[in-house]
Amino acid sequence: MEVITTRHALREYAARHSQKIGFVPTMGYLHEGHLSLVERAKAQNEKVVVSIFVNPTQFNDPKDFEKYPVDEAHDKELLERAGVDLLFMPSRGNIFSEGNPTIRIQYPHLMDKLCGEKRAGHFEGVLLIVHNLFMWLNPARAYFGLKDYQQYLLVQKMARDLEFTTEIVGCPLLREKDGLAMSSRNVRLSSAGRQQAVGISQALFSSRSVFQETQSVRAAADALRQELAQFEVEYATLSNAETLETLEEGTPLPKKILIAVAVFVDGVRLIDNVLVVPHAISI
Ligand code: PAJ
Repeated sequence: MEVITTRHALREYAARHSQKIGFVPTMGYLHEGHLSLVERAKAQNEKVVVSIFVNPTQFNDPKDFEKYPVDEAHDKELLERAGVDLLFMPSRGNIFSEGNPTIRIQYPHLMDKLCGEKRAGHFEGVLLIVHNLFMWLNPARAYFGLKDYQQYLLVQKMARDLEFTTEIVGCPLLREKDGLAMSSRNVRLSSAGRQQAVGISQALFSSRSVFQETQSVRAAADALRQELAQFEVEYATLSNAETLETLEEGTPLPKKILIAVAVFVDGVRLIDNVLVVPHAISI
């Protein structure tokens, strides 16, 4: 595996392998969730490029940024073993030549919901870095986990609107055996917190079952909130999976529903979601 640290080297690689690259952007501290994206990229492309960059512009809490786990040696080993061709690992300083740009890509009505509501600037930071990585590398395909469903939706919209030729591939959310969504942040949980965190996916699964049985948004939302009562909850909602509008009882059901939560355990912010398709209404 080749390792490069500058965007100039990334552009050069892109020129040599134009339209043959599958790309997996990450912030490192890799786990099987990340590796499932790499595997998918390996299956569909001649070359696989992974980036590891803890992007400061998407952290609105400087403490969260400082505490973000890092293990470069282990990440390299995992990627080498996974058969990755190129690792782009810029140092914190050199990703932008003149400091963080102030240009913004915004989707106000998608960015102000769910993970964007309490984290002003988060998704602008994500789209800025993803935009630049796409511009430098021009991959044929890029792989994003549905664990970060809102991020996937925004990247897909940006790629379409700015006419990137990159296909955005959404990949399934991977869970630990007990249901907890895999996340680089899980390592920051105490053992009690780790046990408590199992309740997050359980609440989502219960809410989904209640919806499947009743087709009632209110019943599913009540079940979700009841089961999350033990947590400090940032949001816990049923939304239209395309517009991210919160669903209200009685309004027409969308094609797909996103049940999504963000909660704090041991002060660590964890997110998770499930998708559910309402029954077709037969007339
Ligand atoms: P990071 O949190 O490192 O995640 C990198 C990719 O791995 C994202 O597409 C994310 O959705 C996916 N991923 C994480 N956990 C997963 C899981 N349990 N199952 C499946 N996929 C999972 O997301 C980011 O980094 C950053 O915002 C980034 C896109 C790199 C921009 O800085």
